[in-house]
Amino acid sequence: MSQFSESIASHYHQRTKYAPETIAQKGKSLDWANQPQPFKEYKIGQVIELNPYLSQSTAAIDVAYSDHWIRLSLLLLYSYGLTAQLTTIYGDSMYLRAAPSAGGLYPAEIYLISRGTPWLPAGLYNYQVQTHSLVHFWQDRVWQDLQNACFANEEILAASEIAIVTTGIFARSAWRYEDRAYRRICLDTGHLLGNIELSASINGYQAFFLGGFNDKAVNKLLYLDESEEGATTVIPLIDLLDYTSLPDLPYSHSLPSSIDTKYPSIPDGELLSYLHQATKIDSSPVSTPNPDLATNSLEDKYNFPFCTKISTADAKFIDWGEDFSELENTILERRSTRNYSGAEIKIEQLIALLNFTYQPEAYSDQGLDPAPDYFALEFIETFIAVSGVSGLEEGCYYYAPKAQELRQIRFKNFRKELHYLCLGQDLGKNASAIVFHTADLEQAIAKYGDRAYRYLHLDAGHLGQRLNLAAIRLGLGVSGIGGFFDDLVNQVLGIPEAEAVIYLTTLGVPGK
Ligand SMILES: Cc1cc2nc3c(=O)[nH]c(=O)nc-3n(C[C@H](O)[C@H](O)[C@H](O)COP(=O)(O)O)c2cc1C
Repeated sequence: MSQFSESIASHYHQRTKYAPETIAQKGKSLDWANQPQPFKEYKIGQVIELNPYLSQSTAAIDVAYSDHWIRLSLLLLYSYGLTAQLTTIYGDSMYLRAAPSAGGLYPAEIYLISRGTPWLPAGLYNYQVQTHSLVHFWQDRVWQDLQNACFANEEILAASEIAIVTTGIFARSAWRYEDRAYRRICLDTGHLLGNIELSASINGYQAFFLGGFNDKAVNKLLYLDESEEGATTVIPLIDLLDYTSLPDLPYSHSLPSSIDTKYPSIPDGELLSYLHQATKIDSSPVSTPNPDLATNSLEDKYNFPFCTKISTADAKFIDWGEDFSELENTILERRSTRNYSGAEIKIEQLIALLNFTYQPEAYSDQGLDPAPDYFALEFIETFIAVSGVSGLEEGCYYYAPKAQELRQIRFKNFRKELHYLCLGQDLGKNASAIVFHTADLEQAIAKYGDRAYRYLHLDAGHLGQRLNLAAIRLGLGVSGIGGFFDDLVNQVLGIPEAEAVIYLTTLGVPGK
């Protein structure tokens, strides 16, 4: 056992695993009368409607800086705006958003901080998803405080005028998923980051994802009740229209936290909150035992000399349309597939999806960010269970992103097992392929402290959103799965034991 196996992040991961023996105790009945609201309300503040800026034609209205408003309005809509309204069996409305969310609980909130520009007065704004508006709830200048809270990232903040902060409201997700909800809050936020990254490109911004910041300072700045809500990322947005070429600004997207090995005995129901507090960075970033771990490796982590290898280098490009028109449509039309037919997808489709997700530099010609920010990507590995992909043998594969190849590690049709591993969900059985994101948690903690837990889940969600959008654009079905029998996945699929399974993305042909 390594010296870090007792960290709070490892402990949390272990304690929140689903296993066949204990799953029955985890699922208590839902308290419908006390479900937290998925929208945040402000009693005071000036409301700024963003709907008038949704299409170029209506923006012909004679407003100063309307181009800035259009870009901001679209950026927020494509990131997290409402994209569907459903009626529940009780006759209530349920709203779905541009980013998927486990159980449709939407724990993430978006805030906007303005330095104070001619078009956007200084202060704090909350994005009101339901009405597609901003509420300007604090009008003083806070940019310097934000800059101070972001430690080593002054230059990025000095070059930006606005920044997004994402937060998580824990109870929204914990209401259903209890302590394991922290995983889903970070995964959900990662999906949101995927949308923010792409929507920024569409609208002429460069988004910088900062995962390391002084939590207390950022939470205080936003007037958050820290026991209920916490900042998860700070995202300075650089306006690309201000630059002919973007200067090379140094920044550090993932600072380490300490490693907490002296935690008390934590009762069920308090573990999520304890983990979040323990992964905070306080007054200044700490040094961890292995700050350089896994940074510059040119090799993929796993190689199996005699296994079948399939090159994915010759991928068909996904066309995101002139002026990103198809990307915009895809973001607005994306839905999680509720059932698959079980039919096969094509190997070219799978390869195209992988190429878009893991080789973003191949998309710089289309104007997308060639190197989107991730926090701890060097620790994330990808395994794919193939049940129905024409031209590809059934089994389990390791995807080697550097060599750009699939390396087969198991030869078997796993549909029955996958159904079980996904807690009996039919999505698992009928998917054509399931992408598993995994990470060596202990190594990641050795580099980034307990905060690695946030980073890995944010990254897996971010990758998941790229898979989602690529699948929808190719006419395929797609859905995340956050509930699975953790250790059994490794055992059944042959994924090395050191790899903690973090997230699943199912892919397939949508059923009727
Ligand atoms: C982290 C995460 C985990 C999810 N887990 C499941 C799951 O286990 N089973 C499922 O059917 N859908 C799952 N979903 C899909 C959500 O149910 C879906 O996103 C939500 O209902 C909103 O619908 P939409 O994605 O169509 O906008 C998951 C989504 C995310 C982001």
